[in-house]
Amino acid sequence: MTLLVREAQTKDAQGIVNILNPIIEEGLFTVLDITFSVEEEKQFIQDFPKRGVFHVALNEEGSNVVGFQNVEPFAAYTHAFDHVGIIGTFVDASCRRQGVASSLFAATFNLARSKGYEKLFAYVREDNPNAIATYLKQGFEVIGTAKKHAKVRDTYIDEILIEKFL
Ligand SMILES: CC(C)(COP(=O)(O)OP(=O)(O)OC[C@H]1O[C@@H](n2cnc3c(N)ncnc32)[C@H](O)[C@@H]1OP(=O)(O)O)[C@@H](O)C(=O)NCCC(=O)NCCS
Repeated sequence: MTLLVREAQTKDAQGIVNILNPIIEEGLFTVLDITFSVEEEKQFIQDFPKRGVFHVALNEEGSNVVGFQNVEPFAAYTHAFDHVGIIGTFVDASCRRQGVASSLFAATFNLARSKGYEKLFAYVREDNPNAIATYLKQGFEVIGTAKKHAKVRDTYIDEILIEKFL
């Protein structure tokens, strides 16, 4: 699949919620449980931290967002974590397993390094082996399990902690 990866703009809000909201509604791959309106997503993009990384992947014609990935600073209450970012990745259900996430990771690792990040970190649901496999392929390592860390639709779910040094 030929893709264009670039930084997210407010005009991508519709495309992003088109991917994210069905994943939230499915309730299987994310701990997010409230869908976002296009206006909320626009605001999120506008307010995104300057030190953050927010990439979208567009299809060949540049007409559709097929995936997005963001890195946010781990914490704002201290500078001790300034070198650590939290990463999240979402690809449209109809475009998975075609290298969309891989293209996003390549762009995100580069920009994150240039913004001073040394390490990326994520929590991934233990019942989401596809996501864990995706991150491991990118060089992330499993560093622990936070037990019963999420409670989604009345069911406890462990969260796998992963990290990668850039
Ligand atoms: C996880 C997700 C982002 C992967 O995106 P993708 O664009 O399909 O990933 P890629 O095509 O770039 O896959 C790269 C590699 O990751 C691994 N991988 C990806 N999907 C996989 C799957 N379903 N099963 C096993 N390995 C998988 C493979 O090693 C793959 O390489 P290969 O296809 O050459 O074997 C996508 O499935 C998704 O959006 N899932 C729902 C949301 C989610 O779980 N997000 C993560 C929460 S943080």
